[in-house]
Amino acid sequence: MTLIDGKKVADDIKREIAAEVDNMVAAGMRRPHLAAILVGHDGGSETYVANKVKACEMCGFKSTLIRYEEDVTEQELLDTIARFNADPDVDGFIVQLPLPRHISEQRIIEAIDYRKDVDGFHPVNVGRMSIGLPCFVSATPAGIIELLRRYNVPTRGANCVVLGRSNIVGKPVASLMMQKADPGNATVTVLHSASRDIKEKCAEADIIIAALGSPGFVTEDMVKPGATIIDVGTTRVPDASRKSGFRLSGDVDFDNVAPKCAFITPVPGGVGPMTICSLMKNTLLAAKKEIY
Ligand code: GUN
Repeated sequence: MTLIDGKKVADDIKREIAAEVDNMVAAGMRRPHLAAILVGHDGGSETYVANKVKACEMCGFKSTLIRYEEDVTEQELLDTIARFNADPDVDGFIVQLPLPRHISEQRIIEAIDYRKDVDGFHPVNVGRMSIGLPCFVSATPAGIIELLRRYNVPTRGANCVVLGRSNIVGKPVASLMMQKADPGNATVTVLHSASRDIKEKCAEADIIIAALGSPGFVTEDMVKPGATIIDVGTTRVPDASRKSGFRLSGDVDFDNVAPKCAFITPVPGGVGPMTICSLMKNTLLAAKKEIY
């Protein structure tokens, strides 16, 4: 069994990006600039955004964080988005999700100029990805593909089960896994809450990508010997022995599943660090105007 070390791969990539930024600055270009909008004080979102700002520092990027209280109006967010869209100093920006219920996430996402949408959530980027055109690919699916690439996991012709059909992970990673390029070229089955025979279908999979947000969902009896398991789950479960009061739990019963696998990602330290790294890569591509 090979443990896929997402933390190490992400650190390697951030070093590669930092070296490229050094060269850009030496050639007289300005540093890539990522801006982020954070609404409210959700613990998970606070951590993600803090980690994104830290990753910008590691990569030599400029970063800007704009914070709003929970009661911000949709119009105030739209005004800030319009300002970032028009600002030539901002290469890319993100609005951290989820947003409070009185704000339409879809309206917010569609207000972002797709050429600065380094999260890859805008329908133009989603559509271009699904037909294989250059675009910003959303960070978690891109991170998963990069891990499969760096560990040479065979995907061509493989039976790949994707658990979960979210717009952020399930749907885009299913699309990438069946793209006509490697890693990809897989035979993809997407399973969700209305699916039948989930255990049986998982047991036939060469690759399982679990993105349900259901701790320990994938058990040993659902895994074929020699399968590759990618665990995207990051559910906060209470843990009194931790200073933070919680620990992150994946969607896979790691201890019992790992011994059966060819490759497996841990939680934390698997897909999570890769997600932020993909965001940095997209920001670099935006600064270099390599996609649009
Ligand atoms: N919330 C959970 N994941 C993400 C992400 O990748 N980007 C943004 N903007 N919000 C998120």
